[in-house]
Amino acid sequence: MSRAISVGLGERAYDVLVGEGLLEQAGRLIAPLQKRGRTAVVSDETVWALHGPRLTAALAVAGIEALPVIVPPGEQTKSFEGLADVSDRLLALELDRGDIVTAFGGGVVGDLTGFAAAIYKRGIDFVQIPTTLLAQVDSSVGGKTAIDTPRGKNLVGAFHQPRLVLADLSVLATLDDREMRAGYAEVIKYGLLGDRAFFEWLEANGAAVLAREPSALSHAVARSVEMKAEIVAEDEKEQGRRALLNLGHTFAHALEAETGYGAALLHGEAVGVGMALAFRFSAGLGLTDGQDAGRAGRAIAASGLPTTLADIPGHPFDAARLVAHMAQDKKAEAGRLTFILARALGDAFVAKDVDAGAVRQFLVAEGAAA
Ligand code: GLY
Repeated sequence: MSRAISVGLGERAYDVLVGEGLLEQAGRLIAPLQKRGRTAVVSDETVWALHGPRLTAALAVAGIEALPVIVPPGEQTKSFEGLADVSDRLLALELDRGDIVTAFGGGVVGDLTGFAAAIYKRGIDFVQIPTTLLAQVDSSVGGKTAIDTPRGKNLVGAFHQPRLVLADLSVLATLDDREMRAGYAEVIKYGLLGDRAFFEWLEANGAAVLAREPSALSHAVARSVEMKAEIVAEDEKEQGRRALLNLGHTFAHALEAETGYGAALLHGEAVGVGMALAFRFSAGLGLTDGQDAGRAGRAIAASGLPTTLADIPGHPFDAARLVAHMAQDKKAEAGRLTFILARALGDAFVAKDVDAGAVRQFLVAEGAAA
């Protein structure tokens, strides 16, 4: 049983299928999208070792040969070097525009593969098969592709929509609990930014989602994808409402920059604490009431995610350094800071004119060094 959620982008519209066992159906589902009975499958060593044989067999059933392009796991692969390597290997496979590339992995593989597909021979179609919760509910949907540079994450990239996304919930069985929690931060994000009823459902059912209870997991992923699809269809290039998907991300990116974008603080964990901070900051500015901010924080904490600076290795952070990272954020316009703030649970908005001094004071009140 799977659900199809359409991302309504006119002639570039595509489906995100959410369900158990989609990997086994990958050949049948991808076959109509390709012409020559082959697809390059970009994956990382970990995912390929766990699930590569299943995907290869499923593609073979439909007469599609999987041409593996296996990259090292980890954020460092999302670099100019990683892009050059993948591009060169796609060229060596003599892929042409009638072929299709399949991204099979988490956010790193999806972002890198999507960008390689966007520029390979000026653009080739690609399919996303996300294997982490974070990639299933966020990064595989919506066409943002990118690599990192030494100046920051996701600074070089392109919008390139996939032709199909297969979110097979059964692959989440092998995801470690920490990665599962990190992805769950993005699930809570959808409730907090725009759907109070979903947030309340997560308050009651979050533990079941994290335990991978099938019906809870399926609802959480499908509702998240549905919300993302709706926002992307309305604002593909992030001219307006799509920015709401960055709830918690301005704080998160600054903390990730300070902790080295690594195992000390995973992106989803940074988003967890970032959303708790965004709600408390909103409460401090009198935009939302303290009760909603408290509830947001408790729901995030209940899933085992950090919600305060003191929860993060590397604390105490320096308030001025954190604000300096925020000012470099690609979303900062004309020196003012952009934040996604909240009026209530399920009601976030884009605030473009946030005073850096107020942010700094808030961070000091949260325990950062003055
Ligand atoms: N992850 C945020 C977005 O896709 O816009």
